[in-house]
Amino acid sequence: MTAAGDVLGEARRRRTFAVISHPDAGKSTMTEALALHASAITEAGAVHGKAGRRGVTSDWMELERSRGISITSAALRFDYRGHVFNLVDTPGHADFSEDTYRVLAAVDCAVMLLDAAKGMEPQTLKLFQVCRHRRIPVITFVNKWDRPGREPLELLDQIEEHTGLRPTPITWPIGVAGHFRGVADRLAGKVVLYERAPGGATKALETELTPERAEAELGADWAQASEEIGLLEAIGADHDQKLFEAHETTPVLFGAALPNFGIARLLDVLVDLAPSPAPRAEVSGSARPLEAPFSGLVFKVQANMDPAHRDRIAFVRVCSGRFERGMVLTHGATGRPFATKYAHSVFGQERATIDDAYPGDVVGLVNATALRPGDTLYTGPAAEFPPIPSFAPEHFAVARSRDSGRAKQFRRGIDQLDAEGVIQVLRSDVRGDAAPVLAAVGPMQFEVVQHRLAAEFGTVISLDRLDYTLARRTDAASAETLARQRGCEVFVRGRDQALLAVFTDQWRMRTIAREHPDLTLEPLIADTHADG
Ligand code: G4P
Repeated sequence: MTAAGDVLGEARRRRTFAVISHPDAGKSTMTEALALHASAITEAGAVHGKAGRRGVTSDWMELERSRGISITSAALRFDYRGHVFNLVDTPGHADFSEDTYRVLAAVDCAVMLLDAAKGMEPQTLKLFQVCRHRRIPVITFVNKWDRPGREPLELLDQIEEHTGLRPTPITWPIGVAGHFRGVADRLAGKVVLYERAPGGATKALETELTPERAEAELGADWAQASEEIGLLEAIGADHDQKLFEAHETTPVLFGAALPNFGIARLLDVLVDLAPSPAPRAEVSGSARPLEAPFSGLVFKVQANMDPAHRDRIAFVRVCSGRFERGMVLTHGATGRPFATKYAHSVFGQERATIDDAYPGDVVGLVNATALRPGDTLYTGPAAEFPPIPSFAPEHFAVARSRDSGRAKQFRRGIDQLDAEGVIQVLRSDVRGDAAPVLAAVGPMQFEVVQHRLAAEFGTVISLDRLDYTLARRTDAASAETLARQRGCEVFVRGRDQALLAVFTDQWRMRTIAREHPDLTLEPLIADTHADG
């Protein structure tokens, strides 16, 4: 096979996806169950489970653990049915939704995980909107069917109402939520019964039945399921690959991650229906072919993940070509060479050296001090991918070092967290360099900054909340007028040098805009679709 053919063949084998869900819907359990099924790990809890986090963790993972949230993002890689799965972790808490944009810029598909009793929850919806913005195909998995929950048809209505996607159930539950017997597989045309396997969280026992036997053995549960399936057929809620890929429909599966019901089917659906990596659009408007020389997108930068390695890792999604460890790449933002001697696949605390990678894969590059989220790396012709949008900040606070003797560490720390994209850093001549304003999507970001500055830079900071609640992009001409207004202030944002005007509230902003109709006040990218 030619080298180009090799790359295309490898790309076709890749499935790169994320699980999006509201906290507690079962993402960790699902991640573990998927990996278990694919036999990537042998020990339940070794990868991601809250109970299973083991070994040394850095100080700020301590914060993460005590709050029961996942801040770290990386990718779990495993093989299944001759395919390579890259499961990219998304932050669990709404306050870290900025990270979500970056993570979802690295995937080709998302699994939307719903709790059968709760249906669509706010964080799920927020994450879904990012998928919609990027037109990422979404597979829906209704979880916890082993516990009492809603009616399946009601859940479908809810999915459609909130997402606008038409649900096309692949499997349909037999037995109401809480009395889960199995599923009718509408796509495979068979009936599968589930039983808990002795010994817990390994595979479930699955028995296949013909519809005739199902009728004889399952009685009223089967009668109800077939009536509902009849209804689905009548309204034409059938899977259509084109509509799914066009982000118009969402295949739905019912299951339970904890006893591993329906997990094998989800893996098969990912192999059979989820798209493999496609050529990625560039700023120029054309797309970089998969077989073009190597290009990758930095979607996440993380420092000091592990105190044993005080380093900085950049997570890169391979977009085209073959990555080989040791390659010298060009860093698009600076034009400088970047050596890739230390390349890893990283998930949680586990690291394994990676020697080569193909489109869809995620590579962790160590010692990546120059890299920022959104940057590109390439060989051959320059690659430039469109910028990753960021959420509009809604919380603002002035940061000051409590110890004036540590001004240098304070500045270094703030710059570092700015570069990682942990928080947006705003500066102005009026406030000066010693008192930057931190802008966050959610207040928990402040806690992370405070904690990391203390733990990693030995700098204790004070944070004084400001009563601003929204930001708009502006220009130099408008800035002069805005600086004279009450309830408004203008800053330069560190990460892109954009001029931002912040306001106490909508009402204040509208009044100023009415009084000065020539002002430039543009919503930040995420504003335009944050509410629908
Ligand atoms: P998250 O990562 O989305 O936050 O959710 P996580 O997997 O931690 O699951 C949240 C809770 O829901 C856990 O219980 C987990 O065991 C439970 N769970 C997940 N999937 C299923 C399922 O299919 N069926 C049932 N019955 N429960 C499920 P917990 O008691 O909060 O935590 P733990 O002590 O069991 O870890």
